[in-house]
Amino acid sequence: MAPKYFKTSGHLLVCQGPNCQARGSALLYKALWNHLERAALAYYKTGGSIRLTESGCLGSCSYGPSLCVYRQTPVGLEEGWYAAVDFPQAARIAQAVHDGAALPTEHQYGPA
Ligand code: FES
Repeated sequence: MAPKYFKTSGHLLVCQGPNCQARGSALLYKALWNHLERAALAYYKTGGSIRLTESGCLGSCSYGPSLCVYRQTPVGLEEGWYAAVDFPQAARIAQAVHDGAALPTEHQYGPA
């Protein structure tokens, strides 16, 4: 028997490396999970579609907390990379992914 597969609109990863943790990424991760659950955005909630996991170092240690997101689009895999992320911004990124809207550009870096 296979595990249940949850179709998702995107996957957010919040760095839990030592530099990001020193800038509050553990609290950011917990606050974001609480929000995803309360707003029924978490992938396992009815109507939810967001997957969220902790990650190791994302390579922008001096600019944390760092967050990246991956989602499938009609033209392929899209990635978004963010530095100095706070809770309101993380919530906006999650909502954009859930809604299929353009990713917020504030604090975004990396590939256009
Ligand atoms: S510790 Fe978070 S990007 Fe390196």
